[in-house]
Amino acid sequence: MQRRAVRKAVIPAAGLGSRLLPCTKSQPKEMLAVGRLPTIQHVVEEVVAADIATICMVTGWQKRAIEDHFDLSHGGLHALKGSAEELGVLADRDLNRRLFYIRQAEQRGLGDAVAHGEQFVAGEPFLVALGDTILYSPTEPRLLRRLLEAHAAADVCATILVEPVSPAEVVKYGIVSPIGPVADHGPTLIRDIVEKPAVEDAPSHYAVASRYVFEPVLFEALARTRPGRGGEIQLTDAIRLLLQEGHRCQVVPLQGAERRYDIGGFGSYFRAFCDMALRDPAEGAGLRAYLRGKLAEEA
Ligand code: G1P
Repeated sequence: MQRRAVRKAVIPAAGLGSRLLPCTKSQPKEMLAVGRLPTIQHVVEEVVAADIATICMVTGWQKRAIEDHFDLSHGGLHALKGSAEELGVLADRDLNRRLFYIRQAEQRGLGDAVAHGEQFVAGEPFLVALGDTILYSPTEPRLLRRLLEAHAAADVCATILVEPVSPAEVVKYGIVSPIGPVADHGPTLIRDIVEKPAVEDAPSHYAVASRYVFEPVLFEALARTRPGRGGEIQLTDAIRLLLQEGHRCQVVPLQGAERRYDIGGFGSYFRAFCDMALRDPAEGAGLRAYLRGKLAEEA
């Protein structure tokens, strides 16, 4: 079966960032630096590297800095130092013609934010990449490609990235109920999904990990999804509705050295910054030596 290729991505970036106050008082959490790049640029680079060239960001109150960031500001790129490689997507002069923005005027949840992408998506399959989460995927085939390939090869309405989490953490995530053991390589169908369950109600320890591929039928389900956890329209609940109505959904797990960095809270943000800075070609070795000395002092 040959599915339509995924050419578009929706990046929800409207969350308030309240767990990162006061850093997010007047700037979006998506603009917090992780290593040399703001979080949102890491996400756009990941999407563009998977050959998804057209992107719609769902923004909102106090998120205008995101739009400014992707401008060729102050008289053009020559004002920015660095090679095209270092500048990444910013070196692509045509990128702005393929970046679209829509505002979520009211905080009504992730499902509602994704629903704002409906007209942009215009009946095609599409990727959802949460704008506050960076995926590190060092080896080929990269994570997004695996997700897209798994989706293209199966008769499913959603392919969702998942990762195992500890029992204490299930309450922070969408948790899936896989049909059989989750295979390391290749996708596994699921029978159910539940948003932030109590540990005793969690159907597994596999958490939704911020990247999804959907068929456009998702929008019909979102339109019928009532407010759920936290009084918000949950993306998880729309997927659940599709499953209950007989649609098939599958999950693909993170592998090996792949990592998910959620820039929604300080703990994971600090870890993200450390890991990324340690991988920095110019500064990583120096930082590693500094940290070694520091840790030895404390020991
Ligand atoms: C959202 C989703 C949740 C998912 C998580 C990480 O939650 O609602 O299902 O597991 O992202 O991808 P949030 O972190 O916005 O509360």
